Amino acid sequence: MRYLTFALTKGRLADKSMALLEKAGITCREMEDKDTRKLIFVNDDLKMRFFLAKGPDVPTYVEYGAADIGIVGKDTILEEGRNIYEVLDLGFGKCRMCIAGPKEAKELLQHHELIRVATKYPKIAKDYFYNTKQQTVEIIKLNGSIELAPIVGLSEVICDIVETGSTLRENGLVVLEEVCPLSARMVVNQVSMRMEHERITELIRKLDQVIRQKEA
Ligand code: PRP
Repeated sequence: MRYLTFALTKGRLADKSMALLEKAGITCREMEDKDTRKLIFVNDDLKMRFFLAKGPDVPTYVEYGAADIGIVGKDTILEEGRNIYEVLDLGFGKCRMCIAGPKEAKELLQHHELIRVATKYPKIAKDYFYNTKQQTVEIIKLNGSIELAPIVGLSEVICDIVETGSTLRENGLVVLEEVCPLSARMVVNQVSMRMEHERITELIRKLDQVIRQKEA
């Protein structure tokens, strides 16, 4: 049997991803050692391997088949636009992609003014403003701390992830419009889906069962 390779997103989603896989009977003891500098972890009994990657790289590994399966946020899937199958909503990492800013910026959105939008997600922002709202805007790509942009006058609004809303609140900003809901998803390489159909569909079935039990 060949090894199935999983690409997991480093950071917030990683522990939750392993916890969910564990409930479906997929464990990896090697990964439990938090001090290790190893990059790839193996479970020889299950014929599975796991590695951690930066979120935006997960769809890349999966598209090229370096990983058969990935666990990554819907935001990253939309932004990267890779040729992969999205097969399951894992029900954790829930948050929203929003347009936010000072409450006075609401009017600028309603009147379709030419405003500046700061974001880590230029593709999602462009799609929302150009296709959904049909508003011409200037999109400014940033790499983090997006909430700073309207505070220091770089942009009128931001397009960013809102989870608890506390970053916005603590900086005097509000949600102005909601772009879409987000959560962690399982993605699969298109060739792996055919070649390893039985193992992968069985895995999806098990995970789906665990998620439904959790939600019930
Ligand atoms: C994300 C996002 C917001 C924050 C939202 O940033 O970009 O800044 O979390 O969470 P909240 O609604 O619960 O406050 P992240 O912490 O990933 O860091 P970043 O600023 O580097 O993007």
